[in-house]
Amino acid sequence: MYILGMESSCDETSAAVVEMGEGVRAIRSNIVASQIETHRLYGGVVPEIASRAHIEAISRITYQALEEAGITVADLGAVAVTAFPGLIGALLVGVNFAKSLAFSRKLPLVAVNHIHGHVAAAYLSHPDLEPPFLALVVSGGHTSFYRVTDYTEFCEIGGTRDDAAGEAFDKIGRVIGLPYPGGAALDKLAYEGDPKAIALPSPALGKDTLDLSFSGIKTATLNYLNGMTQKGQEVNRADVAASYTYRIVQAITQKAELALKETGMKTLVLAGGVAANSHLRASLEGLCRRLGVKLCMPDRSLCGDNGAMIAAAGYFRYLRREFADTSLNASANDDYNV
Ligand code: KG4
Ligand code: ZN
Repeated sequence: MYILGMESSCDETSAAVVEMGEGVRAIRSNIVASQIETHRLYGGVVPEIASRAHIEAISRITYQALEEAGITVADLGAVAVTAFPGLIGALLVGVNFAKSLAFSRKLPLVAVNHIHGHVAAAYLSHPDLEPPFLALVVSGGHTSFYRVTDYTEFCEIGGTRDDAAGEAFDKIGRVIGLPYPGGAALDKLAYEGDPKAIALPSPALGKDTLDLSFSGIKTATLNYLNGMTQKGQEVNRADVAASYTYRIVQAITQKAELALKETGMKTLVLAGGVAANSHLRASLEGLCRRLGVKLCMPDRSLCGDNGAMIAAAGYFRYLRREFADTSLNASANDDYNV
């Protein structure tokens, strides 16, 4: 069946057509209208501007997604939409558009948790992947471990107690003068520096917990940069990028090892925008090789927010007949019940 997936939780408006069924997981189209250039002027996402840009793009990209897939609305079997978590005004644009489309065309509507969507991107890149597995979602808003026991059953078992890794990358990227969002630029710059040049505190908390904290490493890096400025010394930005990335990747890898050992899971799924980070991918590849664990990561093009991952996650809720109706609302929070 064909599912239309719609995503508008932050700064990308996306619509995609995905074909799902017995032995079939195929992306027929995946249109992403990014607002990055608009928000770059402000060094971060401006929620009101994001909502307005979603409204301007959503109708156009939906028709584009159908056209590129070579189908019409009549060929769709369901509409899936991100309902939570995210920026509330941004989410409401996608939710209301999807509701109108579904109910005017009498199509089943499925509400999707954005985090489940990120994980579902791995189903599209790995056709044989099936639960149970351990999922590690690392994005602009999340850094969490989940025990995934079925396609729609997630149990959070640890993660950050404060900022997300993506937010931490973006923050230091901005401070050292990289364009917003800093994550991808910092990834590249880190290859030119020495990962051991600057001693920074590890974001990994105590030995027995899966929790992380990124506030300490952010503050230590800011203090280092301020100290260098006060001493009139020049900052080697590549060394900052390399040392910062090294510490973050090392901490996440350390907690992934503990989570795999604690859960006994034989498959690790890495997902979320930061799953595109080449250092993190390489580090987890090394870990999984050493532990004899299968590692499934979405293609880098599917790590950031997109409609295809929402359609894939929506399919599994569709199979369980977990449909939404016209009362569907959006929520900024993780624990919204749809
Ligand atoms: O999943 P996502 O697109 O949006 C959220 O749901 O938050 O993640 C966006 C985050 C941003 O913080 C961005 O800087 C980060 O993913 N990111 C990266 C890379 N590509 C995107 N962080 C590190 N390395 C990358 N290559
Ligand atoms: Zn996301």
